[in-house]
Amino acid sequence: MQATGYDINIKANNITFCYDDVGKGNIPVLFVHGFPFDKSMWKPQFDFLKSTHRVIAVDLRGFGKSTDNLEKASITLFADDLIKLMDGLDIKKAIVCGLSMGGYIVLNAVNRFPERFAGIILSDTQCNADTPEAREKRYKTIQQIEADGLIDFAESFVKNIFSKNSLEERKDQVEKIKKIILSTSPKTVAAALVALAERWESCSGLNSISVPALILCGKEDIITPPERAEFLHQNIKNSKIQIIDGAGHMSNIEQSNVFNKHIEDFLSAF
Ligand code: MLT
Repeated sequence: MQATGYDINIKANNITFCYDDVGKGNIPVLFVHGFPFDKSMWKPQFDFLKSTHRVIAVDLRGFGKSTDNLEKASITLFADDLIKLMDGLDIKKAIVCGLSMGGYIVLNAVNRFPERFAGIILSDTQCNADTPEAREKRYKTIQQIEADGLIDFAESFVKNIFSKNSLEERKDQVEKIKKIILSTSPKTVAAALVALAERWESCSGLNSISVPALILCGKEDIITPPERAEFLHQNIKNSKIQIIDGAGHMSNIEQSNVFNKHIEDFLSAF
């Protein structure tokens, strides 16, 4: 029996992961953060769900409090980590929710290990690989981070992930996310940018996903816009889609009440 609570360490796939595991429920709900954040981004969902469900969130390797001197990363490696973590926690099946890069990881893992998923929640994500232009931009960003560090990167990154209104009205949330970015090691950010740039498309695997799927997307998400969410919905047979007003890419934080309500409805069917 593994420990429960906050900031627990577990060895899996040759590194030490830090995770939160609270609440009780039949099927665990596991949260996978986006780039370049950590498990604390899921606080609004934890606070809402922990009295009714078992909720787990993990710091991906190199991020938050999970250890790894991240030299090389790939979405496939992050997906393998997720499955090994489930093995370590003795979880046969979970409902797994990923935002953005977290969604890329969930799509990768559900295609290779479908038997480990009872359902999926794909938030502000897509199945597409990077275009050559997007890939080139990521490599330029790596050079910029190597030369100047993370401050300018964090400043311009948050401007793209929050809606205009959130940037004005939710300054505390924007600052929290900026702080998480700045506390990530530049080496991890660079390795994850390579992982993002080199990831494969997962669109061709969508029609073999058979578990229930909830697709969420902020209406003003400019990183993975609603059209990308609509494509996921059109191609995953057992899926529902909800576009969230007043949110950009960080819909779980910007409109946490609406986001939580959609998750609660989805979970009530299990
Ligand atoms: C994320 O939020 O995980 C990233 O913005 C994803 C990406 O850049 O493709």
